[in-house]
Amino acid sequence: MILLNSQVGNYIISNGRRYSYFAGNNYLGLAGDERIKAAVIRAVEKYGVNFSASRHTTGTADIHLELEKALAYFKGKDDAVVFASGYQGNSILLEVLRGRYSTLFIDQSAHASILAAIPSDVTGVIFYNHCDADHLDQLLESSTGSDPLVITDGIFPLTGEIAPLDRIYPVVRRHHGILVVDDAHATGILGDTGKGTPEYFGLTGDENIHQTETMSKALGGYGGFISGSRALTSLIRERSATYQASTALPPPIAAAGIASLRILGENPGLRLQLLETAWYLRKEIAGMGYRTTDYRTPIIPVIFDASEKARGLSLFLEQNGVIAPFMNYPVRKEMHQIRIALSVSHTEEQVSQLLDLLKKWKKKNESS
Ligand SMILES: Cc1ncc(COP(=O)(O)O)c(C=O)c1O
Repeated sequence: MILLNSQVGNYIISNGRRYSYFAGNNYLGLAGDERIKAAVIRAVEKYGVNFSASRHTTGTADIHLELEKALAYFKGKDDAVVFASGYQGNSILLEVLRGRYSTLFIDQSAHASILAAIPSDVTGVIFYNHCDADHLDQLLESSTGSDPLVITDGIFPLTGEIAPLDRIYPVVRRHHGILVVDDAHATGILGDTGKGTPEYFGLTGDENIHQTETMSKALGGYGGFISGSRALTSLIRERSATYQASTALPPPIAAAGIASLRILGENPGLRLQLLETAWYLRKEIAGMGYRTTDYRTPIIPVIFDASEKARGLSLFLEQNGVIAPFMNYPVRKEMHQIRIALSVSHTEEQVSQLLDLLKKWKKKNESS
């Protein structure tokens, strides 16, 4: 475990040592942004730290409504609902859509929050092969009569793969289903305006696609949200036990969300610059003979056939002042990988240092 004694940025301090930091999900470098910090401090002065109650029982702060308005605008939707964490989003959505599906079709490498969200009364739960639209089609074909809901990550958090919604969605619709995309890692990153994976595939504005999203990654803040029609957001506010019975997003964190959306809107070039550098880094890493994935995302895995090698590489990097952690995560436990997460705030020098170290390690461990 990495002990952090500083804020998360392109460098961190751990146990008195400064490291170049390629971990986490601070893709747009906003987690320590001075403008966001100032907005949070102002909100602490005004609202205190915590709402200390559920919005449903106790009332909503004006700043929650302001954030929801800003999110709805960003997403081009009628409305948005915010709640305490991105992890809750899948539970909330599967809870309120409950009357509209009888069988769940889940990507076999789906995030832990998707698995945790399966309602207890759903007996039809079927896993399709990872990112495999043909397999999904076969499974849907053989379960005719069920009302399907298909759920997948948008960008997969360990491998940076993008779910092929261009192939998945037509299959879903052919079987009159609903598609839910957990876009935790794609919000602010993918698509012409950063709306996520559906926008990347030109699928915005479709009523049968829902996204669950978070402000904790590219947006640099915290808290989950779902945007959509007023009918959907009302359903969440009126029917979701998860929403109604959990403490609201702390107001200072709502202020962070508002500030980061403003920065995102004013700096559309940030994500383009990030994706360009990420592509360069990925190509260089693949060019050295490492196994990685082939997507334009800021998550670059380095995959091995045995965990010792992945651990060894991560340790070597750490000893040389670079953090890119070995992944021990509750998803895809069969994978042995380190995960390099690029941020737009990384400098050319940091990227070169990382590449040099990867080259050195490869030379010393050629059999990998
Ligand atoms: C795919 C995915 N969904 C949901 C979440 C949960 O989001 P949050 O950490 O903002 O609660 C994560 C976080 O790691 C994630 O990777």
